[in-house]
Amino acid sequence: NPQMKEEGGAPALRLAACRAKGGAPGFKVAILGAAGGIGQPLSLLMKTNPLVSVLHLYDVVNTPGVTADVSHMDTSAVVRGFLGSQQLDEALTGMDLVIIPAGLPRKPGMTRDDLFNKNAGIVRTLCEGVARCCPDAVVNLISNPVNSTVPIAAEVFKKAGTYDPKRLLGVTTLDVVRANTFVAEVLGVDPRDVSVPVVGGHAGVTILPLLSQITPPSSFTQEEIKYLTNRIQNGGTEVVEAKAGAGSATLSMAFAAAKFGDACLRAMRGEAGIVECSYVASEVTELPFFATKVRLGRGGVEEILPLGPLNDFERAGLEAAKKELSESIQKGIAFMNK
Ligand code: NAD
Ligand code: LMR
Repeated sequence: NPQMKEEGGAPALRLAACRAKGGAPGFKVAILGAAGGIGQPLSLLMKTNPLVSVLHLYDVVNTPGVTADVSHMDTSAVVRGFLGSQQLDEALTGMDLVIIPAGLPRKPGMTRDDLFNKNAGIVRTLCEGVARCCPDAVVNLISNPVNSTVPIAAEVFKKAGTYDPKRLLGVTTLDVVRANTFVAEVLGVDPRDVSVPVVGGHAGVTILPLLSQITPPSSFTQEEIKYLTNRIQNGGTEVVEAKAGAGSATLSMAFAAAKFGDACLRAMRGEAGIVECSYVASEVTELPFFATKVRLGRGGVEEILPLGPLNDFERAGLEAAKKELSESIQKGIAFMNK
């Protein structure tokens, strides 16, 4: 089977010997949807991550080409490709981290929720595979609408008896990445020196940047707060419109997913004090899922950090976010229980 052949068709014994000698211990990572707009650059970035020893690239199309291409990079991760649903289980067996960017992207005029009908089923199928083949893996879920797909994944794992809320993380890093960029532009500083907590969820008004809590502490005019909040909440739509029908954010998303995946892996290796925003099962509000800062550890989410003090503008934003989030969560749960 050409999909399963390892890179370059190297004689198996030499390859094994070479790995035994130089092979630093690392994590096994699978990317589901690896041939897509996000999947391809994300595969590239994860191949450069020294914490990754084995990288499995799964999609329903085009994985042979992506795998051959990425496998020629002279970094240590061993790359294997898997094509089609009959190879899903093989792709997932033994994985430590599963990153899921599979599913349809938006076109202009669509909301993320308009993707629900197509993507809900894709996420269900892939998470059923995770439950079957690597129930202890940490899952980073990117497929939209994240506000609903994370509850869907949780229901799949509950039904399979494998659910551990600590290991299911909705990826909202792109909201943080955008917030850091746009705030840095306004402040005239390097975005790498800015850290904006973004809480709530990942769609429209559910994306709630907490500008009152940014590092380094900075103050903004009312006009700047309105401009920044609006731009951060609509960053995805800005890209969808600029791409004019050719999809949504892929490159910045791959960057964000690689950053988040690396944070998860570093925490899984035992590095302390790693804090990222993520959409997870949470008791921070009355909703069952909510994005806040979380402290990551060996088993995924180690601690959910509190929202912290909000100003009046943020409190009003929180109410609007919760209203929409509640509906999206219910829709995801209902999909799995109909
Ligand atoms: P894309 O269409 O370019 O790629 C999606 C890939 O998924 C394709 O290669 C497709 O073959 C694959 N796929 C479809 N069904 C599959 C299945 N059953 N199993 C495995 N793979 C399957 O789309 P994209 O631009 O890469 O976006 C992917 C998803 O990520 C979309 O839902 C998009 O809305 C979402 N997204 C989320 C964020 C976020 O911040 N969380 C950001 C950007 C995009
Ligand atoms: C984003 O924020 O860029 C993604 O959720 C894709 C989209 O549809 O906007």
